[in-house]
Amino acid sequence: MWKPPQRIKFYSQLGSAPTVEQVQASRLFSPVHIGPLTLPQRTWVPAMVPWRSNDEGWVTEDVLQWYGRFARGRPGAIVIEATGIRDVPSGPLLRIGHDRYIEGLQRLVQTIHRESQGQTRALIQIIDFLNIRRRPEPAKYFERFLRITPRLRQALGAQDWNEEAVREHLIQMDPQQWPEVLDAREWEALHMGARERVTDTEWPHIQELPQVLPGLFAAAAGRAQQAGFDGVELHYAHAYTMASFLSATNLRTDGYGGAREQRIRLPLEVYAAVRQAVGPQYVVGCRYLAEECIDGGHTLDDAVWFGEQFARAGMDFISTSRGGKFDDAKQPGVGSSAYPYTGRSGYECMPQYLSDEQGPFGRNIAATARIRSAIRAAGLATPVVCTGGVHNFDMAEAMLARGDCDIVGTARQSLADPDWALKTSLGLGDQVRLCEYTNYCEGLDQKHKQVTCQLWDRMELDEPGLRKSSDGKRRLVAPAWEPPDA
Ligand SMILES: Cc1cc2nc3c(=O)[nH]c(=O)nc-3n(C[C@H](O)[C@H](O)[C@H](O)COP(=O)(O)O)c2cc1C
Ligand code: SF4
Repeated sequence: MWKPPQRIKFYSQLGSAPTVEQVQASRLFSPVHIGPLTLPQRTWVPAMVPWRSNDEGWVTEDVLQWYGRFARGRPGAIVIEATGIRDVPSGPLLRIGHDRYIEGLQRLVQTIHRESQGQTRALIQIIDFLNIRRRPEPAKYFERFLRITPRLRQALGAQDWNEEAVREHLIQMDPQQWPEVLDAREWEALHMGARERVTDTEWPHIQELPQVLPGLFAAAAGRAQQAGFDGVELHYAHAYTMASFLSATNLRTDGYGGAREQRIRLPLEVYAAVRQAVGPQYVVGCRYLAEECIDGGHTLDDAVWFGEQFARAGMDFISTSRGGKFDDAKQPGVGSSAYPYTGRSGYECMPQYLSDEQGPFGRNIAATARIRSAIRAAGLATPVVCTGGVHNFDMAEAMLARGDCDIVGTARQSLADPDWALKTSLGLGDQVRLCEYTNYCEGLDQKHKQVTCQLWDRMELDEPGLRKSSDGKRRLVAPAWEPPDA
């Protein structure tokens, strides 16, 4: 992962461990309304892909155990990882693109409700993403994938050569010259792996996205509702299709790109279709980027305006993230695909302990606070979730007290210690296992390996019936913790 050049080390702090009385008087442990739903407390586990599903996208036993473990810490809400809305193979990522997934998802909801003793609401993040290919072997790329176009022939001075000779010439060429003769997309396909964009409107399946996506999202949300989820989160963040429509880099000319009014059009149409499918009494919100954090990306002004429009449209909550784009991702190894958390924008999404002066804790707060205050200024009460580097009670409480947000998201802190909020609420905050923001977990995600936390994955490996990672070396969920008088 990209690291800021300053490489200043930051260490997470426990902060004050509040007494039970302080907890009772706190904002963090007070209820909050999300549309028709009430969360008993303002803690929120944002979506995290743990690579626990299988190639068919099913809810597996490992998926149940993963979310069951978070639920035992009784956060206000858990958002299930990005779950694909299409019925197409997508590796071991959860899917919701067909009715056959409903039964497994039902078991997942039941597990969260049961393990949290009815305290935690279960939401699911639904996602669409475009195709991205692995970085190819150069010879294979030139032999099989590259289209030999008149432009390329001209660049090579090879107008009269047969296709085989052109391909062979490219293979034999000094690699330094490849970027000089290939166009930008051909070069990207070779040195990063080909990646579709929402602006590739010469392809019918990309051109048709505005016609196709509202129905796909609506059907997926309907299935989430049938499975018993308490709500859905539309994934409008990071490197994926809907965020790419919102992005300032979206220059589509069909009314769905260019000015921000046009870039938000599809996200609003998707929301309207989803709302139509699930009715007014079902929780629907979205996660989107407070800042894209790439050159030419959308500004905070755009994000403030988007937030206001989402709230006006009737979304029940708004959750923010930042960065996480393909645009500045590092070159992957041959045979791997680009990972959108390897560049500067990836750092902004999941900052780690080696940082710049600003540090890794709360980088998303100021931007989210501006979004929330614009929503409030518009006379709307839509709750806003802020995530990024939050790991203790003091920090969360201060965010709520200042009015930066209404709900506090903790992803890696919840992974490091799924019981952190429960321990804190019982006056046992000094027992919290603090996330160190090393990004070991994110490294596993990058390699598509089962995500675990280095602070607990080698503990008590001899526990009877313990499920372990495919290499047998790591436990897959944090060891159990029981409250003292349980
Ligand atoms: C392993 C891992 C997987 C993630 N998967 C998702 C995801 O599916 N959807 C999403 O919106 N964010 C995802 N994120 C980002 C987190 O939700 C969160 O925004 C980010 O980790 C910053 O918050 P934190 O500092 O509390 O960890 C993921 C993060 C991690 C560490
Ligand atoms: S591996 Fe654990 S300690 Fe390290 S960043 Fe991830 S959750 Fe935090």
